[in-house]
Amino acid sequence: MKPDRRPARDMGRIVRLAEQGRPPVHFLLDGEECEALAGDTVLTAMLLHAPALRQSEFGPEKRAGFCLMGACQDCWVWQEDGGRIRACTTLIAGGMKLLSDVPPGWPS
Ligand code: FES
Repeated sequence: MKPDRRPARDMGRIVRLAEQGRPPVHFLLDGEECEALAGDTVLTAMLLHAPALRQSEFGPEKRAGFCLMGACQDCWVWQEDGGRIRACTTLIAGGMKLLSDVPPGWPS
């Protein structure tokens, strides 16, 4: 696989530098088709394509995870079906429909 040569402004928060030989996994992020690799967490998959995981519930800030080990609760993200998952402890799966903001109708 060739190195990603996109300008930095077009990339997500993280850039994959190694382990590029795993099978691709396709998912939707805010309706956009994205690709990750089998074995990636949802956090890795999303941050390969976006600067943050989600909008904060408490202010204008964006969140991108903190502990990366399932302890801090900073990485909850929504799915189009309304369910929430912890991005750092959930493996990406083909066909996932992930959202970076609260879906309509979510209790606030
Ligand atoms: S980043 Fe802390 S629980 Fe996921």
